[in-house]
Amino acid sequence: MLKDKQVVLGITGGIAAYKAAEIVRQIVKGGGQVHVIMTRSAQEFIAPLTLQTLSGNPVTTELFQLYQEREIGHIALAQRAQILVIAPATANIIGKIAHGIADDILSTVVMAAKAPVLMAPAMNEAMWENPIVQDNIRSLKKRGYHFIDPGWGDLACGAQGTGRMAEIEDIIDEMAALLTPKDFRGQKVLVTAGPTREMLDPVRFISNPSSGKMGFAVARALRQRGAQVTLISGPTALAPPRMVNVIPVQTAEEMRSAVQKHFAETDIVIKTAAVADYRPKKISPEKIKKGAASLSLEMEKTRDILGELGMKKGQKLLIGFAAETRKVNAFALEKLQKKNLDLIVANDVGRKGSGFGSDMNEVRLIFRDGRVETLPALPKEEIAHILLDRIITLQKESRARKKK
Ligand code: PMT
Repeated sequence: MLKDKQVVLGITGGIAAYKAAEIVRQIVKGGGQVHVIMTRSAQEFIAPLTLQTLSGNPVTTELFQLYQEREIGHIALAQRAQILVIAPATANIIGKIAHGIADDILSTVVMAAKAPVLMAPAMNEAMWENPIVQDNIRSLKKRGYHFIDPGWGDLACGAQGTGRMAEIEDIIDEMAALLTPKDFRGQKVLVTAGPTREMLDPVRFISNPSSGKMGFAVARALRQRGAQVTLISGPTALAPPRMVNVIPVQTAEEMRSAVQKHFAETDIVIKTAAVADYRPKKISPEKIKKGAASLSLEMEKTRDILGELGMKKGQKLLIGFAAETRKVNAFALEKLQKKNLDLIVANDVGRKGSGFGSDMNEVRLIFRDGRVETLPALPKEEIAHILLDRIITLQKESRARKKK
């Protein structure tokens, strides 16, 4: 979503200014162009050369510096911006913008910009709680400025409290959301992610290597595109995506109950979770002791969550994922038909560097009418957005059919 986007990043003077280097790196990695503006105080914390090197563009520091005005004037910078991000944003810059003061390069560019402005405040807790700061934020929000609130944690002053700049991943996610058309607005989507764990005894379980990355990427993409998202996830090490209702579960049966509970209010279900097909028939109440040379476990089938939804799907869209190691298309198509799905995303999990645990995936989209779209190896975020594009097309086709 940041590809080819023109981002103006304003950095103001706070200790979190050093984190701006990583923000620049992430935007560049996402294919965006970054133009950095630094206030004088920001330069006390991080050198303009660092940001110039990382962004590959000149860093603007002065309002009336001849060579910089020749390179790119402040009005041109404001016009060029598709989004303006201020991270970190001090109480000072928030106050200035709230009161229409434009007395340095950053506040002047903000005043001249028509693009959305996102601010990531970072300050001491007492400053953050100051009613003047809070009033300024409220008044800016009313005027359409966007904020990503600071979190709780260790502050530069040595205290702990609220005032730490939001996580970089969340700032990037919010930027992407502001730049993304809201084509899923008004839709409620249920996503499942991660593995399930089926206990053998109090300290052992049967599971699989799903990291949750694919499902979390789908949930994040949906949120960026305006959907109301419920994410039911097995155990993962991932941070919960912002503004997504996350429901943690452990076992296939717990996932089934959570899915069933939310199904009625859902328009679309996307099941990326790797659910156990079998679980131990009995869970030993005590730790199984080492003894005999071999140990047999009796397993029983879990209930097929998606299969059950397929039987009562009505007008809802059901999207499955299939993890296969052979006959990928044939087995995936079989699952699509058996579970009454609209689309199945098939991955060959035998391939190295994609599927379980990886940041990349290589998938084929298999539709109800047998159409197959083969995608190259792509980051899971990109696959998520392509999948959402295809869901929008399916919905348009279905509306067109109903009109006939
Ligand atoms: O989490 P990552 O590390 O990012 O990895 C992503 C992934 C490889 C897990 C993901 O891309 C993927 O392929 N997910 C589906 C894995 C799987 O369990 O496939 P399956 O072929 O066993 O199941 C087919 C479909 O039925 C799936 O949508 C599954 O959620 C669903 N199912 C399966 C069993 C069951 N008891 N109930 C179900 O609903």
